[in-house]
Amino acid sequence: MDKKSIYILKKLCEEDFVSGENLAKELEISRMAVNKRIKSLQEMGFAIASYKKKGYQLVDKDIIRVWEIEDFISKSELFKDFLYFPQIDSTNNYVKENQESLKSATVVYAERQNAGRGRLGRSWTDLEKGVKMSIFLRLEVIDIEKVVPLTLFTGLIVNRVLRKYTVQSFIKWSNDILLNGKKVCGILTELSGEIEGRGNVIIGIGLNVNAASLPDELLEIATTLRKEMGMDFDRTKIIIEILKEFENELENFKKYGFPHFRDEYKSYCINLGKEIIINGEKKVFCKDIGQNGELICVQDSREIKIQTGEVTIRW
Ligand code: BTN
Repeated sequence: MDKKSIYILKKLCEEDFVSGENLAKELEISRMAVNKRIKSLQEMGFAIASYKKKGYQLVDKDIIRVWEIEDFISKSELFKDFLYFPQIDSTNNYVKENQESLKSATVVYAERQNAGRGRLGRSWTDLEKGVKMSIFLRLEVIDIEKVVPLTLFTGLIVNRVLRKYTVQSFIKWSNDILLNGKKVCGILTELSGEIEGRGNVIIGIGLNVNAASLPDELLEIATTLRKEMGMDFDRTKIIIEILKEFENELENFKKYGFPHFRDEYKSYCINLGKEIIINGEKKVFCKDIGQNGELICVQDSREIKIQTGEVTIRW
């Protein structure tokens, strides 16, 4: 989205009615050019109504306020770029396909994904009014011991942000966020490059926020913040909070690794003290979370460690 369209959207967001004439003056473009831009915003999915006398109105104000995120990014010491897409196949795919040209610490956001991907080759159902974004980081050295728990770290950050909103969320190892027993957020971390060499990491976050409904097949297993909390959430604020918290804690993560976050992770991890079934096979008892985020379990009185195997290391 270019600067002029963002300007129009901002005006529409802040005011009840916006006159086309004023927009034309302020942007120093013709009325026709304003019309064209409004049309293209409508095509992107923004619900903009047009009234002869009153002007334009943004009917549904639950949009991502791109200018606020750009403002945050411009002041951030970590994040370098924010790319907004009304519709895309998958934000992780976009990063993967464009990684050579993207700046490190770019955030790619999509309002809708038509081929969103989940872990283990699953698909990620595209719910309206959610948060679907990928954080792209270029790494000097892939230290696998630290990078694998990066996905747990991200889960912890999202959980921490939700908790700030008084959402009683929990983490299901390794990085699903659950609310009232149902999944509200999933994270897909993908790496490329040589172990112990340069590499790229893509952290894809999918959070179900304000969707009015869920498809039948998800009703038993997934939920949205809106459904559980009985209110709508400001998605722009949530995105900024997640990025802020991620940035604030990344230094600690780089310096101290997962152990620095282990206690907090453990306090929200619902698997601990429970029996789980691994790969549809034997039941194991979850005893602890290890220094690198591995799940420490007991099976037939023997201790076994389950690594974060869901991290994809091949592209
Ligand atoms: C999972 O729990 O299976 C992980 C889901 C990850 C979904 C997000 S949405 C943004 C990013 N783009 C994708 O295609 N997937 C991730």
